Formats: sequence, C-alpha cells, structure tokens
Amino acid sequence: MCNIVLIGYRAVGKTSAGRLLAHHLEYDFVDTDHLICEMQATTVAEIVEEQGWRAFRRYEEEALRAAVSRPRRVISTGGGAVLHQELFEQIWKQNFVVWLRADLKVLGQRLAMAKEGERPSLTGASIIAEMKDVLEQRTPLYRRFSHLAVDSGKQDIDSVVAEITTAYAALQQ
Ligand code: S3P
Repeated sequence: MCNIVLIGYRAVGKTSAGRLLAHHLEYDFVDTDHLICEMQATTVAEIVEEQGWRAFRRYEEEALRAAVSRPRRVISTGGGAVLHQELFEQIWKQNFVVWLRADLKVLGQRLAMAKEGERPSLTGASIIAEMKDVLEQRTPLYRRFSHLAVDSGKQDIDSVVAEITTAYAALQQ
C-alpha cells in the first residue's frame, strides 16, 4: 500500500487528522485543496466564483493525480474528491483509503463556525439542507471507495489517528 488517502465530507477533520497521521508515520502530508490553490495561485472560493465548479473539479482531478503519483504520503482530499469515480477506482486499488465520518449534528456545528466564504456553497441551500442533499449522493461513494470508516465526531483526534495507524500497520503484515 503506498499512500493513505483520507476522504469524507467537509469539516470532518481530514486535514487535522492527516497532518498528525503523517507526522506519526513520518510520511509527507499533501492536502489536495492546498495543491489546487498552489497550482492555480488562488483560493478555492475564487476559482468557484470566477470559473465555476466544473473548472474546480478539473483542477481537483489534476491535483489528485499529482498527489498519488508518489508513495509514502498521507493525502487529505476535498469532500467532493470521490465524484471522480473512474480515478477513485484506481486510487482505491492502489492505496489505503480511509473514510472519516461524523454525525450531521457535529458537521453542522463545525460548518456553522467556519469563516465566511471559506467553503463556497455547493448547492445554494442552507448548510443543513445542503449537507443532507450532498451526503445522500456521496455516502455510497465514500463507502464504495474506502477500506476503513472512522468516526471522527465521537472521539478525539489522537484516537482517530491511532485507529487508522493500527489498521494500516495490520495491512503491512
Ligand atoms: C468540497 C469540499 C472542500 C473543497 C471544495 C469542494 C466539496 O474541501 O474541496 O470547497 O465538494 O465537498 P473540504 O472537504 O476540505 O472542506
């Protein structure tokens, strides 16, 4: 298994858990949203506002391909990464994919606290309505493209990282 890829909805803790996990394993940490911003020299919000979601998804696919092109990385992906289904089919075959999940209530609270404009709306609906709608579409994809599901809403970040590390170590044996 070459990389650990974290998937899951917005605000589920992929970036925080990913950074800590990478530190523990002495792997490189890559955040695909960060990579997109670096490659395009702008922010996610600006890409969406000026070029639309379709352009963002094209950049996202490019960033995902670049992220998995080297081994020994922990890769934190954007919530919509699994929409690239053909690519994710390959990613799932060649990497250890972890689905971070949490209750709607926990996610709703975290999203409500996020800075204005940090996460552009996906559907134009309210946070809760959007989350329900989008999760209905994405949950089967998160399930299908993951080897392990970890609840990050019911435990602290150290336990999340420990759970992933244990499962990953078991695979190497
Ligand atoms: C998105 C999630 C965001 C970012 C973009 C689209 C999504 O990443 O990629 O705003 O489609 O759910 P986070 O999951 O890191 O917030």
